[in-house]
Amino acid sequence: MQTFLSKEVYEQLISVYGSPLYVYDETILRQRCREIRQLCKDPGFHPQYSVKANANIELLKIIRSEGIHADAMSMGEVVQEEAAGYTKDEIVVCSNNMTPPEMKFAAEHARITILDSLDQLEQYLKTTGVKQAGIRVNPGIGDGHCTKVITGGNTKFGIPLADIPKAQKIAHDFNASITIAHMHVGSQYLDPSNFLQAAEVLLRVVEQWLPEVTEVDFGGGFGVPYHDEKRLDINDIGKDLDDLIMDFQRRTGRKLSFIVEPGRYLVAECGELIGTVTSIKQNSGTLYAGTDLGFNIMMRHVLYGSTHHIVTTSSSDQTAEYTVVGNICETGDILAEHIKLPTLKPGDQVIVLTTGAYGFSMASQYNGRLRPAEVLHQEDGSFRLIRQRDTFDSLIHQLPSLL
Ligand code: LLP
Repeated sequence: MQTFLSKEVYEQLISVYGSPLYVYDETILRQRCREIRQLCKDPGFHPQYSVKANANIELLKIIRSEGIHADAMSMGEVVQEEAAGYTKDEIVVCSNNMTPPEMKFAAEHARITILDSLDQLEQYLKTTGVKQAGIRVNPGIGDGHCTKVITGGNTKFGIPLADIPKAQKIAHDFNASITIAHMHVGSQYLDPSNFLQAAEVLLRVVEQWLPEVTEVDFGGGFGVPYHDEKRLDINDIGKDLDDLIMDFQRRTGRKLSFIVEPGRYLVAECGELIGTVTSIKQNSGTLYAGTDLGFNIMMRHVLYGSTHHIVTTSSSDQTAEYTVVGNICETGDILAEHIKLPTLKPGDQVIVLTTGAYGFSMASQYNGRLRPAEVLHQEDGSFRLIRQRDTFDSLIHQLPSLL
């Protein structure tokens, strides 16, 4: 796998912006947006970005400029989208376990809200008085890179198939309509067969039970290669979805709008995380490369066991097997285990690839660590700071005694 910059440039970026640092490549981001925009031929097709993958406002502006709408899972995400210029007609809220104030906020700021359970649907219609809502259907089929991110099937998500007629009845009791049927089977699948099977189930649900639906949202989850896995064939998925849509239209005579809401697919590959080696040591037979990349800024390995390709700026022609760790006070603070790298020394840079999705967006200030700066590698080759590194002040500025 290739880094998108040269060793000299990584070293230069660290000297200008400090370590660690997230870098995003605008050209790759726009390319992924265009692929998704072209996914289906059906005129009713429209993609929306699932902002949870990366909510940097400058990246959102680029994604919006490519004609992609936005999905929000929380009110905070709505605020982030609005800051990037998204308007009410471009935002869909798809959340779960919402409070009544959140429901009101969603009704005011998003064109539609998708509810995750029968009682949430009822509460939403009662609280807001809105006459149109969406429901998240659990198609009974899931997929994803690990059980923590598989959402279809026996999980907390969505309304089970058997309860869909009850959702329709609740809507009617409030003189309202269910106009969006939504699903999301899970995240990071590289074989689309479960996704497509679930999409077929969703269309059958709409055909049988939801006559007022005008939009079907197939969710996200399209995977990206983190190592040398085969790329998902996005054109094939598009064709298969178009076929399902055409069959549906032939059977029912209904012409609907269709949505997909990828997060990772748009942003994962445009992002890299750069860190610095701080210490090399041997403990109980393991050679540790200590870095400033604690799990507070990249937690995917700790949380899911996911692995990212790692490259270094070391020019050594010797190699060694390293366990790459961060600077957090926990034994589990590991980025990669037993990987072969050129011999490292303190001061070398490590570059963690494919970290544009669920990297910074899941970062925290655990252990009093500052979240890194983010930099955009623009199409003209220049670099632009798109988020400042946290400051010590950001660790304490919410203390009442300081307000
Ligand atoms: N729509 C809904 C309702 C979702 O819950 C998600 C992701 C998406 C769309 C976008 O999924 P994507 O296209 O990004 O796979 N932190 C985990 C992934 C969690 C995904 C949560 N929901 C990771 O780092 O692998």
